[in-house]
Amino acid sequence: MKQTKVIDLGEYGPRFTEDPHPVYAQLRERGPVHRVRLPKPDVHQEVWLVVGYEEARAALADPRLAKDGSKVGVTFLDEELIGTYLLVADPPQHTRLRGLIAREFTARRVERLRPRVQEITDSLLDTMLPRGRADLVESFAYPLPLTVICELLGVPEFDRAAFRKLSTEAVAPTSGESEHEAYIQLAAYLGELIDDKRSSPPADDLLSALIRTTDEDGDRLSPAELRGMAFILLIAGHETTVNLVTGAVHALLTHPGQLAQVRADMSLVDAVVEETLRHEGPVENATFRFATEPLDIGGTTIPAGDSVMIGLTAADRDGTRYPAPDRFDIHRDTRGHLAFGHGIHFCLGAPLARLEARVAVRALLERCPDLALDGPPGEWLPGMLIRGVRSLPVRW
Ligand code: HEM
Repeated sequence: MKQTKVIDLGEYGPRFTEDPHPVYAQLRERGPVHRVRLPKPDVHQEVWLVVGYEEARAALADPRLAKDGSKVGVTFLDEELIGTYLLVADPPQHTRLRGLIAREFTARRVERLRPRVQEITDSLLDTMLPRGRADLVESFAYPLPLTVICELLGVPEFDRAAFRKLSTEAVAPTSGESEHEAYIQLAAYLGELIDDKRSSPPADDLLSALIRTTDEDGDRLSPAELRGMAFILLIAGHETTVNLVTGAVHALLTHPGQLAQVRADMSLVDAVVEETLRHEGPVENATFRFATEPLDIGGTTIPAGDSVMIGLTAADRDGTRYPAPDRFDIHRDTRGHLAFGHGIHFCLGAPLARLEARVAVRALLERCPDLALDGPPGEWLPGMLIRGVRSLPVRW
């Protein structure tokens, strides 16, 4: 049998975290699927990495690639400590969990949040603007989606700062130990939050509604599923969108010609958001999938039991799908990008993320006619899940 060469991504060093695109481009040249060793602190040492667009799209919707690791003997730390959730579940459990929550996040339902999203955006800008300069992440891009998702779920305001630290550590851990500790604390936090809500008078938030569902019909959502649902909604609800807002603003400030076009025609903001998703999507790689049987992806046989990682940013820079893929171009046809995934796990929060990013970018440009970079962006988040910078200094 042909020996598969393992590519050690750790050998590329910190450069790979700062800019993985040249490495993905090299890999794509050689083929759509590779055996790679993940750089620390990622856990699953050797995995198959899919970097071609067509193969990635097909793999995302392939039912032979399961999300429930227990089918192949893999357990996840977060699932063990917190509870099961949508991204580590397969049908029929996934169907049931998603069915309980899907109606809350339809485009129509989310549109009703627009006035509140605008209000939060405006008040963050009211606080930020008199200062003349700020870190956009800290003052704007992070608090906006965090406030929106916390309000939706009913997370009290005084908890948010502590929650934020834990959640960033969970998605972009600086070390294995800190990741473990973050999950232990998140599990404790979510458990307490749910207990508090259960013993308080009925409130009009999503988490309270989910608790009522559980209490009325015990076998619909177990305590672990309830914690898991709160976990994924809270974390996925803001750790991604922050990078979409920051990424869109950074892209515009480094492409002055396109920025001028957007300023002249604000209806282009939607295209800015889509091209940011395509060009530097906040989710670098989809969460793990596991081969439940041997299968072929792009001519490579994946043995049963193996882990598969699908490169979303790698796929979205595949030149056979998007010509001159490294160029940021708000006029290109971005349809079909994989930034929100594809198939049954397609991002539940896509309408909310789009709404927040569109409102945020537009309001920022309107209220800061002289917006400019005020120094280099901060360091890129570690790990291969989330793509984004820790800070973006701007002035106006
Ligand atoms: C720019 C912002 C966002 C991006 C780029 C993004 C991206 C993604 C991607 C790629 C997946 C699929 C992962 C996979 O298949 O392995 C996903 C799933 C998910 N996202 Fe998002 N997301 C964003 C914002 C949000 C928001 C605001 C929410 C809040 C409700 C959210 C909730 C979820 C949930 C619950 C899932 C799991 C869906 C399932 O397994 O059925 N996301 N997201």
